Amino acid sequence: MQSTSSARAHTNIALIKYWGKKNQELIIPTTSSLSLTLDKFYTDTKVTFDDKLTADTFYLNHQQMVGPIADKTFAFLKLIRQQAQIDTFATIESINHVPTAAGLASSASAFAALAGAGSKAAGLTLTKQALSRLARRGSGSAARSIFGGFSEWHAGDNDLNSFAHPIQENVTMDIQMITVVVDAHEKKITSRMGMQHALLTSPFYQTWVNEAAKDLVAMKAAIVANDFEALGTLAENNALQMHSLNLSAKPGFTYFNGSTLEILDLVQNLRKQQILAFATMDAGPNVKIIAQSKDTATIIDILKQAFPHVQVEIAKPGHGLIYLD
Ligand code: DP6
Repeated sequence: MQSTSSARAHTNIALIKYWGKKNQELIIPTTSSLSLTLDKFYTDTKVTFDDKLTADTFYLNHQQMVGPIADKTFAFLKLIRQQAQIDTFATIESINHVPTAAGLASSASAFAALAGAGSKAAGLTLTKQALSRLARRGSGSAARSIFGGFSEWHAGDNDLNSFAHPIQENVTMDIQMITVVVDAHEKKITSRMGMQHALLTSPFYQTWVNEAAKDLVAMKAAIVANDFEALGTLAENNALQMHSLNLSAKPGFTYFNGSTLEILDLVQNLRKQQILAFATMDAGPNVKIIAQSKDTATIIDILKQAFPHVQVEIAKPGHGLIYLD
């Protein structure tokens, strides 16, 4: 017997970040988070369960994967097999339209696409909520990529009540993200390691948890009010708070490099020239500039003058998980 399914999921960038787990095995976060799914970066994944296979295999961008990425992927397949009560091995073929592991959240689109294609190929018919819970087990941020537009991952406290839900799938606000890739190499400290280290050793961790709850309420209000400036202000501040946890960990560390800080400075200076632009950064040195479409050409001009070598892409709000079969 052979059964195949293909799915596409887009990356998301958190405006209110997830940075720490209260349950590492089940991936239950310490705080709820909120993100924007982007149209530009996505993963296409095809999963084929086949009785004739004697092991799982994983091809990423046509290359067979071994090592930690493959192990994480096979562990996730096990979860799907458990749910579907099958013991068939599978072949996974993924094409990543995201620079892998450079802080552009490739694991979010990867595990959301795998949850979709894998569960369907295994014969399961899951609701979006169940898909979000499943995707979460691969990588927390993947829970949010099941949905398009603005999506909130409600932290919950157990496997059943920790999942994402849409806040606004068809985004009405004029909002874009200019991704500025200063370094496309793989990150040295994974988000999984970084957040756990911050949680265990930063004296400010509990403050982060308290502030995140307030930020989330304010962010949802900004979305409802279509208030771009409030959204951007909150997102930049929340990102900087997350990164301050890493600096204050013992030993302290950072995902930033010199270019990250220079671009952050440039973004803050744009605001002094009445151009509304805000920065957010994840587990890597790259900066995502949150901007309105009317300003993007000007912002990219100024950016390119200061940093001729950075790679720049404009992303708009994207949609949630889709099947390609
Ligand atoms: C900085 O979802 O990659 O992008 O659950 O351990 O796989 P794991 O972590 P992951 O962490 C994402 C961290 C972040 C913030 C965010 O997306 O909310």
